[in-house]
Amino acid sequence: MKILVVGAHGTVGRGVVAELGQRHEVIAAGRNGADVTLDLADPSSVRSALAPLGQLDAIVSAAGQVGWAPLLDLTPEQWAFSVANKLMGQVHLALVGQQFLRDGGSITLTSGVLVDQPVPCGAAASLANGGIEAFVRAAAIELPRGIRINAVSPGVLQESMGDLGPFFRGFEPVPAARVALGYSRSVEGAETGKVYAVQ
Ligand SMILES: NC(=O)c1ccc[n+]([C@@H]2O[C@H](COP(=O)([O-])OP(=O)(O)OC[C@H]3O[C@@H](n4cnc5c(N)ncnc54)[C@H](OP(=O)(O)O)[C@@H]3O)[C@@H](O)[C@H]2O)c1
Repeated sequence: MKILVVGAHGTVGRGVVAELGQRHEVIAAGRNGADVTLDLADPSSVRSALAPLGQLDAIVSAAGQVGWAPLLDLTPEQWAFSVANKLMGQVHLALVGQQFLRDGGSITLTSGVLVDQPVPCGAAASLANGGIEAFVRAAAIELPRGIRINAVSPGVLQESMGDLGPFFRGFEPVPAARVALGYSRSVEGAETGKVYAVQ
């Protein structure tokens, strides 16, 4: 398969590329230094990046940023940034990206454990994650041409504990290699409208 991985150079993305790259052609996408340059927060950049690639078999997003702060300190700008980037960025990727997928191709987005296991300072992440999971379930029943869509909901990654550990005390970290199996299940399986929690 020819698979576009947005965020391929990130912590989750590197695990996804290590897993899927064993069996498939992976095209790495991101804002800097990838095979393909795009910004999820800018739908026009997504369209112009995908157009020259030809038909894809799968699109994976392992990207999306959010603001982190105590609930009452999150500014309107931080809420808007989180929605524009992690939530609507991935929604636009799916809506634009489906046009470049073959019949029966797949889209895999990323939510996260905070959707139903909140931590202090993570409200904007929880909001974006919940939106992604609702979108995936809704889009699955309307996408044309047999195109599938799923989400992976990773727990906190072992590789991210240096930065995120203080926010995730008591959570069992998950290796990126195990999180990557959720993406494999979505891309290489047959289901749609699912959320694969790897936590
Ligand atoms: N790490 C964890 O423990 C964890 C747990 C649960 C969920 N998640 C979720 O998994 C996703 C990836 O997290 P991560 O820890 O792997 O992040 P990361 O290490 O910061 O990597 C993010 C990757 O995405 C790219 N990216 C970021 N914003 C982008 C944008 N607007 N457009 C295109 N590419 C963009 C970055 O490259 P450029 O900067 O070059 O664009 C980078 O390659 C996020 O949605 C995160 O919320 C992570």
